[in-house]
Amino acid sequence: MCDRLRKVIAVKRWLVLGLICLQLLSSCSFTNRAIAAGKTLTVATEPTFPPFEFQSANGELQGFDIDLMNALASSAGFKVKYQNMPFAGMIPALQAQTVDAAVAAMAITAERVKTISFSRPYFKSGVAIATRTDNKNITNFDSLKNKIIGVQIGTTGALKAKGIPGAEIRTFNDSPLTLQALLNGNVDAVLNDRVVILYGIKSGNLRKLKVIGDLLTEEFYGIPTPKGSPSLHAINQGLATVLKNGTYAQIYQKWFGTQPPQLPEKSSIENQTTEKGVSRLFTSLSIILKSIPALLSGTLVTLELTALSVVLGIIGGSLIGIVRLQAAPPLRFCARAYVEFFRGTPLLVQIFMIYFGLPALAQNSGFTFTLNRLAAAVIALSLNSAAYIAEIVRAGIQSIDRGQTEAAQALGLSSVQTMRYAIFPQALRRILPPLGNQFISLLKDTSLVAVIGFEELFRKGQLIVAENYRSFEIYFTVALVYLFLTLLCSQAFACWERSLNPEEEESSRKKS
Ligand code: ARG
Repeated sequence: MCDRLRKVIAVKRWLVLGLICLQLLSSCSFTNRAIAAGKTLTVATEPTFPPFEFQSANGELQGFDIDLMNALASSAGFKVKYQNMPFAGMIPALQAQTVDAAVAAMAITAERVKTISFSRPYFKSGVAIATRTDNKNITNFDSLKNKIIGVQIGTTGALKAKGIPGAEIRTFNDSPLTLQALLNGNVDAVLNDRVVILYGIKSGNLRKLKVIGDLLTEEFYGIPTPKGSPSLHAINQGLATVLKNGTYAQIYQKWFGTQPPQLPEKSSIENQTTEKGVSRLFTSLSIILKSIPALLSGTLVTLELTALSVVLGIIGGSLIGIVRLQAAPPLRFCARAYVEFFRGTPLLVQIFMIYFGLPALAQNSGFTFTLNRLAAAVIALSLNSAAYIAEIVRAGIQSIDRGQTEAAQALGLSSVQTMRYAIFPQALRRILPPLGNQFISLLKDTSLVAVIGFEELFRKGQLIVAENYRSFEIYFTVALVYLFLTLLCSQAFACWERSLNPEEEESSRKKS
């Protein structure tokens, strides 16, 4: 009886499991059918690229691309849900099919069609050079030799910049940051889509900038979708309709004040099919191998940044920690305010403040002041870690019993000697574990300085992905390198701790 009951329960369990699987499968195919039928498409966009996509003061999405997408969606009979994401993340997101399409002024290029498909061309554009109005040296592409060039990561401007002999390329996450760096004097020129620079100069705070010479490239924007996506057909249909019925011309007129140029019906760069199975595995391996030299050079920069920041952080943090314990009240208050400020604000904001904010402030007050990236990164990282280290040092010292100080002083030691011979050696053992944690955090936090175009390990990875669109392979390798470094670090701290523990040292000596 009992056996039969058990069997029935088991069968029921399998049934329920099967039903759940079926439900999941059917909901997947339902989503696909919904897309094909044209219900709601999730469309990625990066609204920092006026006049193509940007946000109004009240946060509403607007721009040429947005108007066009809305118009073509309504004529093809589907709805659009926009999802903000960085430009460099769009192709990986399309590959992973987390979004159905993107509108991002994205040019149809031979490299991109290897991994995603594009709609028919919808805008004719090209890359141009922007520089400061007072710069007389830069007059054409050849004069960019050996200059510092700012670009947005993963764009056609970044690709073009690679061909400049001797140039030092600084990559930023979005286009406004490149132009801000140009205004601040951190870069000599920027390569970006010409329309975007001109729009910025006309409408924004970019009057100190100018556009040089002819277009460096001719490119056509398309709407990208995942390969083989059923939404591509609907998008193309919608585009064809708005191009024919005059809606496209209206939108063009609204944003650019002229009639649109003739657009080709098909791009000269054809969509391609994807590789599968074994060949993909081989390519993955060869991509990882090929990326290793670049990642190693990034690792060296990461280590250099960590070492510099940790040394400065320990010096600063120890001083602040001691001030918090022993100085006069106003100083103590300042030290506390420092700790609260740097612990209470995000490191990313601090990096932006130091690299972009300080030079901009100086320029507005009439000084010329630029900060080099290494200095900005090290300053931000060490100021931040000093705040945490100060607390670690303070807590470590405070945890030593007061009786120890009294005993040392009864023996006639001065307060400096008391600290040096009695308190600090004991405090160090308690400080070490949290200090090790802080060291590991700092090592990982160095990846944040990628935002100022610093080519450390993570940024190197991003740059490689921006070229080959193999995000999983590359980021996995990057993660492994970080893991290797942090494991090494915790091992070193564990050894140090052991060497400070008299009992363990004794027992290991006996063993040997
Ligand atoms: N047209 C350039 C490209 O395709 C730049 C596009 C950048 N778009 C953006 N939303 N930030 O690479």
